[in-house]
Amino acid sequence: MEPMSFVLFGATGDLAKRKIFPALFNLYVDKKLPAAFSIVGVGRRAWSDTAFIQSVEQSIREFSRRHEIDQAVLAPFLAAFSYVAVDVTDAAGYASLLERVEQREKEFNLPQNRMFYLSVAPEYFEVIAANIQESGLGSPQGWKRLIIEKPFGRDLQSAEDLNQKLTKAFTEEEIYRIDHYLGKAMVQNLEALEFANPVFAALWNNRHIANVQITASETVGVEERAGFYEQAGALRDMVQNHMLQMLMMVAMHIPKRITATDIRAQKRKVMEAVRPLKIEEVAQNVVRAQYSAGQIGETPVVGYRDEPGVSPASMTETYIAARVWIDDPFWRGVPFYIRTGKRLKEKATRIVIEFKNPLERLYREQQEKTLPNLLIINVHPEEGIALQLNSKNPANSGKIEPVTVDFSAGHQDVPEAYERLLFDALRGDSTYFAHWNEVRLSWKWVEPILAAFERNLVPLVSYEAGSHGPEAARDLLREEGFSWWLDH
Ligand code: BG6
Repeated sequence: MEPMSFVLFGATGDLAKRKIFPALFNLYVDKKLPAAFSIVGVGRRAWSDTAFIQSVEQSIREFSRRHEIDQAVLAPFLAAFSYVAVDVTDAAGYASLLERVEQREKEFNLPQNRMFYLSVAPEYFEVIAANIQESGLGSPQGWKRLIIEKPFGRDLQSAEDLNQKLTKAFTEEEIYRIDHYLGKAMVQNLEALEFANPVFAALWNNRHIANVQITASETVGVEERAGFYEQAGALRDMVQNHMLQMLMMVAMHIPKRITATDIRAQKRKVMEAVRPLKIEEVAQNVVRAQYSAGQIGETPVVGYRDEPGVSPASMTETYIAARVWIDDPFWRGVPFYIRTGKRLKEKATRIVIEFKNPLERLYREQQEKTLPNLLIINVHPEEGIALQLNSKNPANSGKIEPVTVDFSAGHQDVPEAYERLLFDALRGDSTYFAHWNEVRLSWKWVEPILAAFERNLVPLVSYEAGSHGPEAARDLLREEGFSWWLDH
């Protein structure tokens, strides 16, 4: 990996503290950072280098997955950090930033490879990218790259505007759009599961798969984010990005080569084949819901409209379920169901592939009940794969019963999503970052749903906090004779 400078905008913010500094430190401990590097924090606060470095150290001690921190390792890592106070909207401040970056490049003898990470509110993306360009920071002799976090626009038009502005300063190849779901180990594993196993590769189509269920349920409510969430809702917050990314990863076809270009081309094909919804069809295919008061475990919790900062008449959805059809020869006729929501019974992200069960009747005639084969991919918080099979139980007079073959990653010390993603960005591997095509096509698919919600063409139903979500989401699957698996 080539030596580089890492310029972090939003260095005094929450994401930097909770995720970025600990991830960089863990990469350093694992010897996954370049031999030489400089990290320049940029923030509005007038901090000294010392104050900044102290805050970095504190964040590592508090949030790193490693509990034992060796001072002899930490000290040289912290020596790479420095801080510049800049009002990011003021072009004049970028001269001092450039000066600092160059000074550190000289000091550490670094080539001019510059990674810019925008850990700031989205309204600053454009102005920062433009100022990087105009100040000369963005014309290094080596490479330059930009990492940004979602939200990437709030509809198709705003995403296109933003992209157009960013691409004035950075090419598509230089932009790394983080979708942290693509950093999850089991989401990255989908590609290997599908293609490195001939048994699954052979079955990965509509002849053998009955339906696919993708769930991301959370127990948390809106927390302190009402200001943001009221404007976003589950559709913008989770579906346009994370849920559709998982759908693309499950449904993509085998690429010619396992490279970023080929994998992203396959993902794009999936998104292009997703059947668009007409506004008047949204209500039949999408469930929109909001949580009412209930209980999470033993703890009573208030309904969404009673959360601090939420309007008592709020129409924001905290839950979405949708039926998605992919109109290509591989998936025609296979419903993909997605659902995500807050204040649900469990925190679980999982993908269930239900296989067809053509011989069910044959066994039924023998008074035996067989269940469909299921491939269950547990993404989070448990990480693992389970396969449900039918097997005769010798201890129960040879009756057929479902058995589950289970692989669980257990509680190994698995690197976090941000570690994997930063490592990839630093070595220039964009496989697990959202390409502009994916973002654009996702917004395009989401647009009629946004419009139908705005015009109130889809009823906002309620579900009790701590439940598995609204009845309407069960009805959605019932229409094809299916039900959600694993809602215990
Ligand atoms: C974020 C959303 O992108 O993902 C949050 O903005 C959500 O609302 C979070 O809670 C869920 O991520 P994870 O990794 O906990 O499933």
